Amino acid sequence: MTPTGPRRILVTGAGGFIGHALAKRFKAEGHWVRGVDLKRPEFERSPADEFLLLDLREEANCHTAVHGVDDVYQLAADMGGIGYITSIHASLTRNNALINAHMLEASADAEVDRYLYTSSACVYPAEAQNVADVAPLKESDAIPAHPEKGYGWEKLFSEQLTTYFHEERGLDVRIVRFHNIYGPLSVFEGGREKAPAAVCRKVAEAEDGNGIEVWGDGQQTRSFCFIDDCVEGITRIMASGFNAPINLGTDEMVSVDALVDLVTRIGRKQLHKIHDPSKPQGVRGRNSDNSLLLREIGWAPEIPLEVGLARTYSWVWGELKKAGRARPPIPAQSISEPISAAVATPGSVV
Ligand SMILES: NC(=O)c1ccc[n+]([C@@H]2O[C@H](COP(=O)([O-])OP(=O)(O)OC[C@H]3O[C@@H](n4cnc5c(N)ncnc54)[C@H](O)[C@@H]3O)[C@@H](O)[C@H]2O)c1
Repeated sequence: MTPTGPRRILVTGAGGFIGHALAKRFKAEGHWVRGVDLKRPEFERSPADEFLLLDLREEANCHTAVHGVDDVYQLAADMGGIGYITSIHASLTRNNALINAHMLEASADAEVDRYLYTSSACVYPAEAQNVADVAPLKESDAIPAHPEKGYGWEKLFSEQLTTYFHEERGLDVRIVRFHNIYGPLSVFEGGREKAPAAVCRKVAEAEDGNGIEVWGDGQQTRSFCFIDDCVEGITRIMASGFNAPINLGTDEMVSVDALVDLVTRIGRKQLHKIHDPSKPQGVRGRNSDNSLLLREIGWAPEIPLEVGLARTYSWVWGELKKAGRARPPIPAQSISEPISAAVATPGSVV
């Protein structure tokens, strides 16, 4: 049965992108929130009632983190964009395995009401993602397994571990597989940024008429899910009582070149793409199959890519402007201009 009334909620990874957005949502709904992370949020103050700086690789810290809470949202992870997660397999896999094993143990010992584990589309087998025009990935495609090296293997292992804690210790779990979450307040430089934020930064910093670097040949495909949809989906999945892995993403698949074209148009610039095939680009194609989400939750992400990207670009441009790095023109959203005035069809030539 879905609990009603204010909850005592733990958000781990609350100094990170999705964790911070979740903490804001829960506070706005009147819940009591404890945030835990190695660091505080980078771009604005956490609204959490209590924010503990703890290293969750240590089991004792996980017990401290879960003390007295009803629900756990486990978003702490050593994580970043494709360049980052493919460069440090040993330490990243170890860090995340320790965090997840200890968080599950502590949460089961504390007999929390509900536990949400945040997995990834990186659990899906390479063979199902080797063409750009890929079939959307269904939850059942994950096993037999051939996930992404390091990060993906750990996510799949921790999904299994989460399931065992459900079966043997009675922990009421949710397991959500995110597909490329993006939006304002995500890192956009330094090596941990993902493609949408990186592209926004490059376009914002580019002088009109110049070129920008694009990793790979630009034909690799992905779907991207805006942060507001992600937060909405998490709360719906937690309320659902569904214990098995479930996708959370959009099925609006675009090539990286089309993503760059869209951001370029949002930025109202003329830029050419300089492809660098030597840079990591991950699987060739990836898209989310949302049939299970629709069946179990009765909802799927609804914010169109061009709307989410316009908000993200506007925010990134504003951050770069503060540092004197943004190049004109001012984004449409900053001057209250309708997005449609700045955005044309994705995929056409810039
Ligand atoms: N953003 C995406 O597109 C995406 C896609 C798939 C899965 N995920 C998963 O969603 C969750 C949240 O991702 P995010 O995008 O907000 O990432 P993020 O990097 O912004 O946030 C993760 C947070 O975990 C914290 N952390 C790392 N090690 C820690 C430790 N030892 N102890 C305590 N905190 C620690 C980091 O400091 C960071 O603030 C993660 O589990 C991630 O793997 C995200």
